[in-house]
Amino acid sequence: MADQTTNGVTAQPDWNFLLDGFLLTLQVSFFTLNQPQISMSLSHVLSLRQDVKLVERPSSEVALQGPQIDFVFNPLPTGVLAALRKLLADGATEQELSYLVTQEEGISVVPYLYLCLYHLNALNVICRTIRYNHFPLATLIPISSQHHYQGYEVIPDTPYVLSRFVYCRQENNQIVLESPLAHEKVVLHNWQASALWAELKVPRNCYELSQVISGVSVELVEAFLNLLLNAQMLVEAIPGYESGNNHPAVVQWEFHDLLFHSRSRLGRHANPYGGTYRFLGKIEPLPVVKPESVMVTIPLFEPDIQHLQKNDLPFTYVLEQRRSIRQHGERPLTQQQLGEFLFRTARVKLLVQSEHGHLSNRPYPSGGAIYELELYTVINQCADLSAGLYHYCPQKHELAQICDLNPSVQTLLEAAWHTTERKCRPQVLIIITARFPKVSWKYQSMAYALILKHVGVLYQTMYLVATAMGLAPCALGGGDSDLFAQAAGLDYYKETSVGEFILGSYLETD
Ligand SMILES: Cc1cc2nc3c(=O)[nH]c(=O)nc-3n(C[C@H](O)[C@H](O)[C@H](O)COP(=O)(O)O)c2cc1C
Repeated sequence: MADQTTNGVTAQPDWNFLLDGFLLTLQVSFFTLNQPQISMSLSHVLSLRQDVKLVERPSSEVALQGPQIDFVFNPLPTGVLAALRKLLADGATEQELSYLVTQEEGISVVPYLYLCLYHLNALNVICRTIRYNHFPLATLIPISSQHHYQGYEVIPDTPYVLSRFVYCRQENNQIVLESPLAHEKVVLHNWQASALWAELKVPRNCYELSQVISGVSVELVEAFLNLLLNAQMLVEAIPGYESGNNHPAVVQWEFHDLLFHSRSRLGRHANPYGGTYRFLGKIEPLPVVKPESVMVTIPLFEPDIQHLQKNDLPFTYVLEQRRSIRQHGERPLTQQQLGEFLFRTARVKLLVQSEHGHLSNRPYPSGGAIYELELYTVINQCADLSAGLYHYCPQKHELAQICDLNPSVQTLLEAAWHTTERKCRPQVLIIITARFPKVSWKYQSMAYALILKHVGVLYQTMYLVATAMGLAPCALGGGDSDLFAQAAGLDYYKETSVGEFILGSYLETD
């Protein structure tokens, strides 16, 4: 068999597997002539992940293929090939596999089976199922190339508790446990597994758990806990434990942040990643520019960009002068200043035809030229503009009034005041929304992370333009997306706020 590496997996022999193989060869010699008795109790079944397949080539080469996996075995002994097919079909215990190989080709081929299992293990494609009285209880499935099954075992009289990072969800009609600490997931197949999982909400040892759930033996509890322990889902409940992990860096992660981080980056999952266009032909993409539903619009001032390119303040001066200013001047911002600011930060400069419809180009960068961000302005004080909530139309460069300073909009202003150390009521609050489906129509696994990156680049563009114009800018760290959706009449799932920024005139001090 080829000693090759795939997917960054170093093909170091797993001596446990190989040693097990030799020991088992000896054992098998005692019972090979008889089929293994089908156990009425506990067994550990190995199988292959469902996203891999065997490709048997006429050259008698056998390849294992799957996401990020293309591993070629040199010609395999017939018995080992039969075992591989069995693993792919419905799985088997090591004992059953050894029996199969021995039946096909004799006991001398069993070590080849273990070499094959070693390669499968290194490729992270082996699933482990606890079977009890013929029925599967739970299965551990590797989900990343960093998965290494360590074979940890719980101590039966030591209490364990679920890690605070574990969560349960329905996926393809199965109950699945996942955790952002884990490189594997665990599928729960029956009520005993679900009950055991639920009872681990408080620290319990194997004996206590088997008493809490009737009909579940200590042996079965132990096997289930071993599975969870090897999937980083269980924590030993030592005094002072935190039901997650006591490592100081881990303690400071909140559940949702670590889940978002691990699932929106590559590494800790096997999900499709990047521009996959998974809704192509199923859902129409949103138009490149948001259609305006409001009839009354206010055209805005357009600065002379050519003139600014030659005569504006030097770039390094602007960069060095930029700072967050939370207090605004006596004189309100003017409509002309607001127009210039929006034109220089967010207008549509260009529409571009692409394979998948129109894209655009604006003053700040955007992944895939998607430009899903929209700007709304809450006008509190602005010369020549009545107070209220407006939407900025980046193509026509105009404002469309949505409503006046009603109680919801006033609450948004109030929140911005609190967030900026209550220095002063902002003259203008700019609320950035995202039209979420624009990004998720193309990108998978990373859509929301991409949106937040876009908010960051837009913030910096706004800071620099405001500084160059002698205005007072300050980004805000958070806001109420539900309240904004309600105030602007938006569907929370389709478009709502992802960022806030305040803008006003510069406060002259002596
Ligand atoms: C993403 C982001 C969020 C921020 N959130 C707030 C905020 O909620 N309230 C606030 O007063 N300042 C906020 N700021 C401004 C920072 O406090 C400020 O950038 C930082 O103190 C550095 O000061 P400087 O911007 O004057 O260089 C935020 C800045 C950024 C980039």
